[in-house]
Amino acid sequence: MKKVLIESLHKHVGEEVELSGWLTNKRSGKGLEFLIIRDGSGFAQCIADESTIGNEAFLAAKNLSQESSFTVTGKVVKDERQIGGYEIHASNVKLINKSEDYPISNKAHGVEFLMDKRHLWLRSKRQWAVMRVRNSIIFAIHNFFQKEGFVQMDSPIFTGNAVEGTTTLFESSFYEDKAYLSQSGQLYGEAMAMAMGKIYTFGPTFRAEKSKTRRHLSEFWMIEPEMAFYTNEDNMDLIESFLKYVVKSVKDNCKSELEILERDTEIFDKIIDNKFPRLTYDVAVDILTGKEKVNGKTTLEILENDYNKAVASIEDCNTEIAKIEAEIKAGVKKGKRNFLQNRIDILKNEIKDWEDKKRVIPQWIKSAENFEYGSDLGGSDETVLTRMFDLPVMVYNWPHEIKAFYMKRDESNRFAKGVDVLAPEGYGEIVGGGERETNLDLLVGKINEHKLPMEAFQWYLDLRKFGSVPHAGFGLGLERMVAWMCKLKHIRETIPFPRMYGRLFP
Ligand code: 4AD
Ligand code: MG
Repeated sequence: MKKVLIESLHKHVGEEVELSGWLTNKRSGKGLEFLIIRDGSGFAQCIADESTIGNEAFLAAKNLSQESSFTVTGKVVKDERQIGGYEIHASNVKLINKSEDYPISNKAHGVEFLMDKRHLWLRSKRQWAVMRVRNSIIFAIHNFFQKEGFVQMDSPIFTGNAVEGTTTLFESSFYEDKAYLSQSGQLYGEAMAMAMGKIYTFGPTFRAEKSKTRRHLSEFWMIEPEMAFYTNEDNMDLIESFLKYVVKSVKDNCKSELEILERDTEIFDKIIDNKFPRLTYDVAVDILTGKEKVNGKTTLEILENDYNKAVASIEDCNTEIAKIEAEIKAGVKKGKRNFLQNRIDILKNEIKDWEDKKRVIPQWIKSAENFEYGSDLGGSDETVLTRMFDLPVMVYNWPHEIKAFYMKRDESNRFAKGVDVLAPEGYGEIVGGGERETNLDLLVGKINEHKLPMEAFQWYLDLRKFGSVPHAGFGLGLERMVAWMCKLKHIRETIPFPRMYGRLFP
């Protein structure tokens, strides 16, 4: 018998095949068992018919419990209406291992419970889809840089110095010495770019963030290209074509995953077809505080509009719920009743989302109005800025005081040639990067100003002594990209086993 995967069923229509996997769901009819099998590559329905399959096999099918592993043999039949588009008409069902009292049922569970069961939660359909999108993003990233002639290199994880400030360092030990887990591979990336021209690193990075936010992990994966002879303008061009490439690849290759996640993909088309707005920090602040309009509108006008829409939508949902409840009260059949109840649940969730918006928009408005020139953009400021364009926004030329020590000063000596890319739909910063300081004195001055130990940076300063050249690079947070592309509410679902404040297990 031919062993196949669900994803290749389309090649075997009409043939007898053997599938092995796990039971995710089951429904029983008269003399029939409908089994939903998953094998990692997809989901498919198998039908076991008592009148043709034989007693033993039918009993095996009937007794299958959620997440029991089993093998089914049968004929592949095309059926567009079914999950995955193909169905197996079983000729045999054989249990491999019985799963008893599987803790995750198809009813809703709290997130903390699911996080405790992360090792099992990964089997759920939505999580499966997220992990496939993550894989697709990773693949697209490598494809992009390889086709552009970059060399993939690895920076160390044990390091002797800080890169992104000293407050988020994870301290470790390295034999007799103190060491830190890498916050960023960039400084090593710069050395490697001086050897290889254009490189990218793709590795784990660590930041001790003693707060629980929906955007921060303690351990996350970063992609950090570094290019010799690049200015920050070249850098921004590269970031834009890179992000467009990744978005297009995922859109093309993850159709069914994005469907499972109910991700509207219209914005992806907009991103592929339009130039990303590039704003200096000064212009970004003017837009944020309402001094400058975008398409004839101020932030306040747009936000008030959004607020009114939230109020109206809540009303609409409530009206529909009242109507459905009246219908149920008047008496409907069980099937219809379940359908209607389900619709009420969906509407209640929508109301929750709108209520959230209604609650936060006034806070955003306040934060935008009170924004102080010279400070960093907060999460809500980022949301407001991108809302004005509904595209990724690049903010560049930042006051140098709020940026990392290695950033290049511009001609006015006031700004650092750094760039942050803000993802739309409220996701905020996904990329941070910029041109690197090549002036030895300014660099030494910054290392002192940031109170960093000069000895630890001697090797880095060498790069400015032996054939120093203009160079630039950036870092993309993989999990932030996954969260945004899948439109997840929280970053914890973007990585198989998240590490964050208060979570080391499983
Ligand atoms: O802006 P950051 O701190 O920049 C750097 O580390 C530079 N050295 C990169 C470079 O130029 N080579 O971090 C880059 C990106 C952020 O934009 C964000 O996407 C992600 O890394 N990131 C995090 N993702 C998840 N959890 C955290 N705690 C993160 N901190 C940063
Ligand atoms: Mg940053």
